[in-house]
Amino acid sequence: MRNVSLTRFLIEKEHTNHLITGDLRLLIEVVSRACKAISIAIGKGGLADVLGGAGSDNVQGEAQKKLDVISNEILLEANEWGGHLAAMASEEMDHPYQIPHRYPKGEYLLLFDPLDGSSNIDVNVSVGTIFSVLRCPEGVEPDEKAFLQPGAQQVCAGYAVYGPTTLLVLTLGDGVNVFTLNRETGAFHLTQENLRIPADTREFAINASNQRYWEEPVQRYIGELLAGKEGPRGQDFNMRWVASMVADVHRIMTRGGIFMYPKDRKDPGKAGKLRLMYEANPMAFIVEQGGGAATTGRERIVDIQPTALHQRVPVILGSKNEVDRVTGYHA
Ligand code: AHG
Ligand code: MN
Ligand code: MN
Repeated sequence: MRNVSLTRFLIEKEHTNHLITGDLRLLIEVVSRACKAISIAIGKGGLADVLGGAGSDNVQGEAQKKLDVISNEILLEANEWGGHLAAMASEEMDHPYQIPHRYPKGEYLLLFDPLDGSSNIDVNVSVGTIFSVLRCPEGVEPDEKAFLQPGAQQVCAGYAVYGPTTLLVLTLGDGVNVFTLNRETGAFHLTQENLRIPADTREFAINASNQRYWEEPVQRYIGELLAGKEGPRGQDFNMRWVASMVADVHRIMTRGGIFMYPKDRKDPGKAGKLRLMYEANPMAFIVEQGGGAATTGRERIVDIQPTALHQRVPVILGSKNEVDRVTGYHA
């Protein structure tokens, strides 16, 4: 494979393919630098007193980890001064973050889950960062309403996985590419081009402790998988659940599989667990760009018209034939 740094990859996308603007290139560079800083902070672990709870709750009522707060700060500070953004929104902030008046403003809206899977951080299991980029409609104030655009309008999405290696997985709407952080030089390098998700799989991911709350179509689908060779599918399926969406999705991007956090009856006030704007939409965009599918069981995730910044949605994504099957069971 050609030795291509993320910087060179993006410059080629700007000048050769005319796929991105200079501002979007800068935005992605800055986000990648922030992810590198988060990766370094995570890597210090117990040596730097970054583990454990922050003693606060976020807008979703979830206890924040110190690293949730640190990662959010890193992303805000990296992105506020470059002139590429109109505003930012995050899992860890109730309302959009406005660019301070002393800095120039740009046309993009950046949304992120600064640390995904943070319940895994204290046990040294992979976590990540998820981000999504939208355009701020011209002449519109970058308030909460400006962010409420369907995922189909994303101009870019990506995630970083902080695992045995630090990876950045990126789509600009022309396929999915993977970059690995070279810890010696501090640069991301292209290591996998045009990732494709196999259409068929025999591996599924779901939190089975919620089974009693699932709806009938999901009960049926999982029941059939668990019945294995003796059941209607006539083959055995294996189960994997990391409980960090980034790690579960990355496994699916790498070797196929289906990931589900479906609608359930656990909390009637919540349509699902995962958040549309900075978890479901960017992952759906990436999975579709890899040839997979992503639905709520009832509709394509990226077709949803959002109604709130922190809205939750059911998520079923991964290998196309399996996602189509379980979506069909909902019809
Ligand atoms: P976050 O750490 O950003 O709040 O997200 C956690 C999410 C997601 O990463 C994962 O798939 C899911 O929560 C795990 O939920 P369970 O606790 O049901 O395993
Ligand atoms: Mn998350
Ligand atoms: Mn998070």
